[in-house]
Amino acid sequence: MAVKKYNGVPYHLWNPFTVMDEFLPFLGFGPLVITRGQGPYVFNDRGKRYINGLSSLWNVAVGHGREEIVEAAAKQMRELAYASCFRQTHPKAIELAAKLVQITSGHFGHVYLASNGSEAVETALKMTRQYHRQSPNTGDHGRYKIISLRGSYHGVSHGALSTSGQERDAAKFGPLVPGFLRIEPPYCYRCPYGKDGYPECGLECALALEKTIQSEGAESVAAFIMEPVMGVMGIIDPPEEFYRCVGEICRRHGLIFIVDEVTTGFGRTGKLFVSEDWNPGPDILCLGKAISSGYLPLAATLATGAVYQRFNGRGNQFDHGSTASGHPVCAAVGLENIDIITRENMPENAAIVGAYLKSSLKAVMNSRRLIGDIRGKGLMIGIELVKDREKKTPLTEKETFNIVLDIATLGLVVYYSNNVLGLLPPLIIKKDIADRIVEILDKALNTGITADITRKARMAKELAASRLSLPLHKKR
Ligand SMILES: Cc1ncc(COP(=O)(O)O)c(C=O)c1O
Repeated sequence: MAVKKYNGVPYHLWNPFTVMDEFLPFLGFGPLVITRGQGPYVFNDRGKRYINGLSSLWNVAVGHGREEIVEAAAKQMRELAYASCFRQTHPKAIELAAKLVQITSGHFGHVYLASNGSEAVETALKMTRQYHRQSPNTGDHGRYKIISLRGSYHGVSHGALSTSGQERDAAKFGPLVPGFLRIEPPYCYRCPYGKDGYPECGLECALALEKTIQSEGAESVAAFIMEPVMGVMGIIDPPEEFYRCVGEICRRHGLIFIVDEVTTGFGRTGKLFVSEDWNPGPDILCLGKAISSGYLPLAATLATGAVYQRFNGRGNQFDHGSTASGHPVCAAVGLENIDIITRENMPENAAIVGAYLKSSLKAVMNSRRLIGDIRGKGLMIGIELVKDREKKTPLTEKETFNIVLDIATLGLVVYYSNNVLGLLPPLIIKKDIADRIVEILDKALNTGITADITRKARMAKELAASRLSLPLHKKR
């Protein structure tokens, strides 16, 4: 089969999570080839501007084009392009670890640096199992099971994948790693327990954790891991009480409480970290994405002093690490990025603009029957699309995708998962961009014959423009 070409270059790239044979024919369409970013915008290869409504895969919290970060990277590269943290160290990794401990209010004492969220989670899982294996209490040595929320997403490596427990993964990559269990998610809009809502539900979803621990036997359970707001599942944010309840259950049964803030960390939800004032707080915290705003790959796994102490002494060390752990240039970028986030008070902006955006969207909901639910915290907002509000019949993924395409033709790129649209713009946006987002969604979520015709016309125009400019679409 002839290899497709893009601007004369043979297309050998195998894109992640992409249906390649559907993707390639549309290579020049809409926002599929992004060539430039500036602030809250990204631009495609024909110069069309889009509001970056998903922060380039939940990453670019500070927006594109921050010269301070570019400078920090260049300076570090000139000075020391790479140094390992294997039995040696260097200043930027030390400074970044100290910064992370400082901004998490001293709750954590120790930081393992990684390159991506999957690695941060994988690290947490291995740390947890070894922690129990080295307990002075021999009764804990058999703790290896990890409990997570059904539908959660924790990454692509085999441990993180087994934690996420998506059925699709088991079918494609199984058998998954043994010892991973799941409880139902705190999905209030479609309560898995058929309850009518919080607080009347009595938080059955949180209590399920305790039931599972008891039925498995606490002496075999190592940890519970959760995202404070489930991203890939469709921006599911549980009531605050859920966090306290599961935290207490972990304490009561001697589990490590792992909180995965890879998507929520660094201000997205209106607080620097969702878990920053939880009591009980996490024992291990996973961070990624906005830690460097995606300027370079970076992630981290933070542990409390109590966890760290178990690894004292020869033979007890954490035998884990990869070449790029604590990479100096990534660390320098992370430091500069975190400095910008705190200096410019982005969590507060996310809280203010996020609340404004959510309430504006709720106003639109009255006239757009496709919107079943609007939820989320700060600038992490989910819009669940339904065919029928009373029955909550979800739109199919294909129907949702068509709307996502139309939203893109109107100049906004959004995240979507199943029938949920996700809005996660950079934390720098102000009310004017929030207004524009609402305007676009209002237009795209308009149903009815006239709206359908207009939508199709919009997309046909965009497609025609792409075809004209791209040799890829010419018949060979
Ligand atoms: C909550 C959560 N944890 C972990 C990951 C994995 O991160 P990465 O893709 O950087 O490996 C993701 C990615 O989306 C995520 O959403």
